[in-house]
Amino acid sequence: MKSENAIVADKLTKEFGDFTAVDQVSFTIPKGEIFGLLGPNGAGKTTTIRMLCGLLRPSTGDAKVMGYQISSQPEKIKTKIGYMSQQFSLYNDLTAYENLDFYARLYGLSNKHRETRIGELIEMAGLENHRRSLTSNLSGAWRQRLALACAIVHNPPMLFLDEPTAGVDPISRREFWKLIYGLAGQGVSVLATTHYMDEAEYCNNIGMMYRSKLITLDDPDTLKESYQDILVEIDCESPGKALLLINEMSGVLEAALYGALLHVTIEKQVLTKRIQRKLESEGIVVNRIEEILPSLEDVFVNMIKSERRALVRAEFNIEGELI
Ligand SMILES: Nc1ncnc2c1ncn2[C@@H]1O[C@H](COP(=O)(O)OP(=O)(O)OP(=O)(O)O)[C@@H](O)[C@H]1O
Ligand SMILES: [Mg+2]
Repeated sequence: MKSENAIVADKLTKEFGDFTAVDQVSFTIPKGEIFGLLGPNGAGKTTTIRMLCGLLRPSTGDAKVMGYQISSQPEKIKTKIGYMSQQFSLYNDLTAYENLDFYARLYGLSNKHRETRIGELIEMAGLENHRRSLTSNLSGAWRQRLALACAIVHNPPMLFLDEPTAGVDPISRREFWKLIYGLAGQGVSVLATTHYMDEAEYCNNIGMMYRSKLITLDDPDTLKESYQDILVEIDCESPGKALLLINEMSGVLEAALYGALLHVTIEKQVLTKRIQRKLESEGIVVNRIEEILPSLEDVFVNMIKSERRALVRAEFNIEGELI
């Protein structure tokens, strides 16, 4: 029977000397789905991708990518995948068209097929007005679209995108994700890493990596529902001063600036009134204070904070409330 999964990673582990960069990471990506791999710098996202692309041998564990085992069939995998790496390689002294032509030749597309495919890609990426532009003259957003087009020149059914939208503006990022959605709609499976929490919302499933481990794996809605504590949003004057005051209150688990607003995680609903009274007694006008649903950013910040607390407890051997 044909597998319905694009990727099945089973306890993937990579050690560099005595440092474990990826530690027993397991997940599955069904065909045609978008999987988001999130995590702070150094969490192990790129190393995971490089193993799945057959570029780096796992120390232990294994994975199947489009039906092929990464340990024994890495060459087969390379024909089935597109990889837009973190430092994607475009030739700056070539035009957009010439870059596409270069990659099409690299992947062995025949003369006849090459022209048609490049035409399709230029249309898909909206590069019609830039086809003759020198790549060095393209803005970051257009370069990223061109890099995506180059990565899929051979029509791969599986696509790896390592921080594809780093450093571009929110509107361009949204436009880029529309392209990814389009590809997923055609049946392409996608694994993308990102530091932008809003982008995690575009994914069918999200894996969160922290210190080499996958600490959570779920769909965006379930992740938000899993938020145990109460999250309150406050719109008030002098948010910096308010933050200091709130952080001193007992029952406050976490308080942070969220743009011009404050997001405060509390244990009990009753604290909302107490916070309001405290701020007003200090002469701070509170325009709005209400319980809100957490965003994915709230969920992940909270998750990492509790992971950190658990690590500290384990490190100092504090018993009783361990993990
Ligand atoms: N070839 C290597 N030799 C030794 N250590 C490495 C090697 N490649 C990666 N590492 C280390 O492994 C850890 C994970 O790196 P990785 O690049 O996978 O993280 P990342 O999650 O992609 O981070 P970022 O968000 O910054 O891209 C880092 O501490 C990194 O320094
Ligand atoms: Mg990386």
